[in-house]
Order: sequence, then structure tokens, then C-alpha cells
Amino acid sequence: MNKMVAPSLLAADFSNLAKDIDMVNRSDADWFHLDIMDGVFVPNISFGIPVVEAVSKLAKKPLDVHLMIVQPERYIEAFKKAGAHLLNVHLEASTHLHRTVEEIHKNDMKAGVTLNPHSPVHLLEDIIEQVDLVLIMSVNPGFGGQKFIHNTYQKIESLKNLIERKKSRALIEVDGGVSLDNAADLYRAGADVLVSGSFIFNSSDPLHTISQLKKS
Ligand code: DX5
Ligand code: ZN
Repeated sequence: MNKMVAPSLLAADFSNLAKDIDMVNRSDADWFHLDIMDGVFVPNISFGIPVVEAVSKLAKKPLDVHLMIVQPERYIEAFKKAGAHLLNVHLEASTHLHRTVEEIHKNDMKAGVTLNPHSPVHLLEDIIEQVDLVLIMSVNPGFGGQKFIHNTYQKIESLKNLIERKKSRALIEVDGGVSLDNAADLYRAGADVLVSGSFIFNSSDPLHTISQLKKS
């Protein structure tokens, strides 16, 4: 268990992103989490490649990029150039997931596969040995500030078993509705990385909130 924290910039102040990036740089957080939404795979549109590039110029920690877009394979090289260290693609959006994971590795990035709440862990059976991380969505992707889905704990458990059985190196990351109400339980269940957006950026002292999440 790693107990890492990845603040999601979706909840940051877009009119003063530099300030929030600086806060994350100074904090105990491990990665920056960047949510890319295309208005097709998910109902919402967030921000794109130029913003990732701008963040990477100021960020002193790795960029964990979560692609909520159709045909993510079309943009692998572009996100590498923009500064991504880890590229997460949705299982539901990737017809040739094995090839996509290979391409991400060829572009010298870590490869993550993301599961929507309805997608069972056993669908990863034949890819788990190739991936560096599995991102379990604990809300339906598309928006920040949603309610945590409780079934996530069972999914972490199944994923942990699969990872052990297949001797995979994959880390387990959880995204959506994460707060101090569930962080300790999530780490205890086997999560290595917790993504948190609104809980961190809407708090009165984000630096302190991040260290509390890490100490959960
Ligand atoms: C949701 C995004 C999340 C989001 C999490 O589609 O993938 O990363 O920013 O936000 P909170 O922590 O507010 O649920
Ligand atoms: Zn995300």
C-alpha cells in the first residue's frame, strides 16, 4: 500500500491555475490528476492538450492524465508531448486496448486502464500483466463533486486478488467522491492512489486537507 494522493485540477480555480499548481507543488501530494473530457464519451467538456502543456511547465510532480474521450489511441503522442507521465484510457472507450497500452509504453509513459462503475474487474484478466495502473471510477465520470459509489470497495478487493494472482505490478487508483470520510477505508481496502478534486479545492486549507488525506 502506497497511500498516494492525486489532486484533480478539475476543481481548481481556472482563472488562477498557477496559484493552485503552486499549492500542489508545495503540498504532500504525489501527482497532478488532469481530467480530459470530450463531450462524447462523457456529457461534459473540460480542457485539452494546451492546458496540459501549460500545467506541465509549472508542475513539479508527475502528471496523471485521465482521458475520458472516445478513440484515445489517436492522442497518445500528443499527450506525451504535452508532458503526461501516466496516461489513463477507459476500457469502455478502447476497442484495441492491448495495442493502445503498447503504444503508451512505446511513447515512454506509464499506462493506466480505467473502469466505469458498471465494468467488472474480470474484464482486465488478459491485460492486467501489461498495465502499470488500474483506475477504478467511484462515480460515473464526467463531473466533479458527485456521491461516492459504495460498491467500489468490492471492486478494489477483486482487483487486488487479480493483481496478486497474475503477479501484476499494477497500482490501484480510485477516482470520484473521495474525502476524509472514505480515504482510510479505501487505503485499507488496497487503494494505492486516491484522486480528490472538490474535497481538496473547496476546503478552507487545501494544503492541510492533502496532508490529512495522505495520513488517512
Ligand atoms: C470525474 C473525474 C474526477 C473528478 C473527481 O469524472 O474523473 O477526477 O475530478 O472529482 P471529485 O473528487 O470532486 O469527485
Ligand atoms: Zn479523473
